[in-house]
Amino acid sequence: MTIDPMQQIRETVSFLKQQYPHQLEAGIVLGSGLGNFANAISIEKEVAYGDIPHFPVSTVQGHTGRLIFGTLSGKKVVAMAGRFHFYEGYTPQEVVFPIRVMKLLGIHTLFLSNAAGGVNPSFKVGDIMIITDHVSFFTPNPLIGKNIEELGPRFPDMSEPYKKDLIQKARQVAQQHSFDIKEGVYVAVTGPTFETRAEYKLIHALGGDVVGMSTVQECIVANHMGIRVFAMSVITDMGIREEENVITHEEVLQAAKEAEPKLAILFKELVGSI
Ligand code: HPA
Repeated sequence: MTIDPMQQIRETVSFLKQQYPHQLEAGIVLGSGLGNFANAISIEKEVAYGDIPHFPVSTVQGHTGRLIFGTLSGKKVVAMAGRFHFYEGYTPQEVVFPIRVMKLLGIHTLFLSNAAGGVNPSFKVGDIMIITDHVSFFTPNPLIGKNIEELGPRFPDMSEPYKKDLIQKARQVAQQHSFDIKEGVYVAVTGPTFETRAEYKLIHALGGDVVGMSTVQECIVANHMGIRVFAMSVITDMGIREEENVITHEEVLQAAKEAEPKLAILFKELVGSI
């Protein structure tokens, strides 16, 4: 028997609506080391991934694996503390399953965050970067396969994957709160290895400013479904440095944690503005 993806999505949605019967406005995905942001939300309901029908279970250290429902800046939101990565062995369709569920729960705007390696030499560890565009050629497109017509078109437009008005608002927020914010292109790779020196150089030569192992598949399905997307990266390591180039997951988590207050300000204000 083939599994109907829409049926699975609907079953999950109806389960979650029983848990939290409010119309949602925004979805938030918290990247590696950024889970503390959940404390900014006035939490009304939490559901562990393991308790949600059809949800994959997150395996990476630093991801707590729960869906958080509550109010942020006066808006009803759902946040993923822990996301699903392709490198964990999930199919691209499993990676994006929660985003599709969020759409049917009513969200119209999606806020994505991640830890990423900097390849733009003017960046430094701890910087935050608004993602203005991305390159997804190194990771499988989650829309490959039979198109789910109910969700969106066969050939979605990707001319504005990250919404310009939200980018503009983020610039203003950073300015008002007197912190520096970078902007640039996110190049998605599968991981789980960090890149070799040659790969970091190549990614920079291809027009990338940062490189990471998430976000882009989620952004693609969100665009497919007409969800407005804003995304940002925390630069947790510099891939282009000339000195010894050892990068560890611990260093990535630590750098993300330190930058988290800036992410909190941005997401709070942006959610308030939608
Ligand atoms: N490369 C890929 N993904 C990452 C990195 C990196 O350097 N840092 C955090 N996520």
